[in-house]
Amino acid sequence: MAHTFSDKVVWLTGASSGIGKELAIQLAKKGARLILSARNKKKLEEVRKEAVIFTKDVTVLPLDYAEEAQMTPAVQSAMAVFSRVDHLILCAGISQRSFIMDTRVEVYRKLMEVNYFGPIALTRALLPHMIDQKEGHITVISSVAGKFGTPMRSGYSASKQALHGYFESLHAEMYKRNIGVSILCPGYIQTEITLKSLTGDGSPYGKVDDSLEHGMPVQTCARKILKAIAAKKREVIIAQPREKTAVYLKRFLPGVLFRLVRKLNPVE
Ligand SMILES: NC(=O)c1ccc[n+]([C@@H]2O[C@H](COP(=O)([O-])OP(=O)(O)OC[C@H]3O[C@@H](n4cnc5c(N)ncnc54)[C@H](OP(=O)(O)O)[C@@H]3O)[C@@H](O)[C@H]2O)c1
Repeated sequence: MAHTFSDKVVWLTGASSGIGKELAIQLAKKGARLILSARNKKKLEEVRKEAVIFTKDVTVLPLDYAEEAQMTPAVQSAMAVFSRVDHLILCAGISQRSFIMDTRVEVYRKLMEVNYFGPIALTRALLPHMIDQKEGHITVISSVAGKFGTPMRSGYSASKQALHGYFESLHAEMYKRNIGVSILCPGYIQTEITLKSLTGDGSPYGKVDDSLEHGMPVQTCARKILKAIAAKKREVIIAQPREKTAVYLKRFLPGVLFRLVRKLNPVE
């Protein structure tokens, strides 16, 4: 797998924390040349300092997914540094913790801006370059919530499910152009994503959920993500047995899954 990423230019969003930060370090150890994106430049610089211990070229390129106008200039900057991008890994995202009845429509718009419109706008801006270079691979980090909805994640789940529609179409359109597409769906992973998860009025949730604290270690998740990309997998569930089983139930016994998911609702 080292060979898959060695000397390849990998553009990683969400690189300032959690899964994206761990992907950056593991990719650096494999000798990838990295472009690190997220909003927080200071945190990206810290990740860059860790990554350059292992690899020669690491560039920080701050980017806000909610600002579509930033995408084309960001692609121009990336091309100016490396002249090509072999892998785009779209990892940035925000989550949600609020019931539908408590959630303002603007919160749904924010979730869609960051989790859906951000990744598709960056993909659209980079695609002509990948087509010109006649190869490339685009990976989007969805979620098990991209496979089925659960309480308190209505907007998060919707934004992740929207990714499947877009990136499945992209796979079909780009196959003959030698551009691969992977949609990867983590379950609960040990990160602090819920600290900034949006509540019904848009304010941050501010705590780390128990389910995440007992989730898959972020190092394991990142390792499985890179293995899936190296194998050019179209879709992989990266989760512990409970969440994996839920995805299979949705496919083969959806009635059973819906009954189980109803029980997750803390309000009777
Ligand atoms: N942790 C889990 O249990 C889990 C499960 C399934 C799927 N996922 C998915 O995995 C991905 C990474 O999540 P994580 O757990 O690693 O969370 P995290 O530690 O909170 O990381 C989220 C990343 O997204 C970036 N980001 C947030 N808003 C952004 C914006 N508007 N523009 C650009 N970048 C933005 C953040 O950086 P800045 O704040 O610096 O912008 C950060 O680098 C997300 O797509 C998430 O939905 C996570």
